[in-house]
Amino acid sequence: MLTMQDIKGHYFFTDEDAELLRQLRPLAEANRERMADEFYDYLLGIPETAEFLKDSTLRQRLRKTHQEWFLALFTGSYDNLYYHTLQRIGQTHVRIGLKAHFVNAAMNVIRHFIIELLQENFPNIQERRKFRNAAEKIVDINLDIMSASYQEEELRKVFVNR
Ligand code: HEM
Repeated sequence: MLTMQDIKGHYFFTDEDAELLRQLRPLAEANRERMADEFYDYLLGIPETAEFLKDSTLRQRLRKTHQEWFLALFTGSYDNLYYHTLQRIGQTHVRIGLKAHFVNAAMNVIRHFIIELLQENFPNIQERRKFRNAAEKIVDINLDIMSASYQEEELRKVFVNR
């Protein structure tokens, strides 16, 4: 069983990365609406994902939930509680029957959004590269943990059907 410490080690995620992400928090806050607009334009543009967002009350609530997740990328604190939260988020998407493919594709949208933000706000290449490396690591760690929930569910099905 991996710990968050193990996972961070495998991604060479350092305390400096955590600090860099924390420094990006105000920028993330200032762009939370834009992030949600782009994320929801994307999800509503694909019939298979739009299907999950038909109810407008639920959609408004979820928009906030997805924004909170986005902001949590930039807290600067990534401990076992964070790990368990991400496992739970992965399990939630497995439970509702969303294909892993759409989580992967949606994470790609987030990754591009963050890279665009950095591009717009940090003209100095060296500085931007440090922020980008840290952001790429935390995005990849998120996807890794959420994907593991899908793999565990597949394994569970294999054993249940034996
Ligand atoms: C719920 C994050 C992709 C639809 C959630 C929750 C989080 C989250 C934090 C709350 C889960 C909980 O507290 O247990 C993410 C992240 C994604 C992603 C990080 C990928 C970058 C998607 C996609 C869809 C989607 C592609 C497709 C429409 C939903 C729905 C729920 C949900 C419908 C509510 C499930 C329920 O409680 O019944 N998501 N999400 N998410 N997400 Fe996502």
